[in-house]
Amino acid sequence: MSLKRPAKEQPENFEFSPSSLAAANNMISKYPKGKEQSAVMALLYIAQKQNNNWIPLAAMKYIAKFLNMPYIKVYEVATFYSMYNLSPVGKYFVQVCTTTPCMIRGANKLVEACKEKISKNEAELSNNKMCSWMEVECLGACVTAPMMQINDDYYEDLDKEKTLKILDKILNDEKPKPGSYRGRINNEPENNRKTLMDIKNA
Ligand code: FES
Repeated sequence: MSLKRPAKEQPENFEFSPSSLAAANNMISKYPKGKEQSAVMALLYIAQKQNNNWIPLAAMKYIAKFLNMPYIKVYEVATFYSMYNLSPVGKYFVQVCTTTPCMIRGANKLVEACKEKISKNEAELSNNKMCSWMEVECLGACVTAPMMQINDDYYEDLDKEKTLKILDKILNDEKPKPGSYRGRINNEPENNRKTLMDIKNA
């Protein structure tokens, strides 16, 4: 399975659900008249969310008609950006950051956990088709490294044991609690530190 190549098996039809339709119209209303096509990225993302985290070709055609623009232009956008999946990734899409700050804090252990629990290779569905995983570049949460993203949520301050527990939950179709797994609130420093003054060579 490649996430960047359209899946071999494609649904014939796609249309926005009532809530997606409302979200799409709301997004379009933010652009000046005549510039509605600028909402194409947002609409692709709405389609992806509606369709279990991936965008079928029928959705690209639907959005092209919706925005009155050529299908090939929608296809170009969908195939260019890494945030769009063009093949099924499961209900829970796990992205493990393996850029340097996460790597030196043990991201390889998170990858090991994914290999053990989900699938040996990245971009491959779990046996129950509930989830898949892949390595990604920095997700901008280096201060709570190592971390991973599942759908829209961040799971931070992880180690292998905690990651295994999180993966067990999604494999059972339960949503794990997002945030820090060392009890930090947002990006606050550990041990109640307020300044760097009491740290030698800070
Ligand atoms: S390096 Fe992992 S979030 Fe930045």
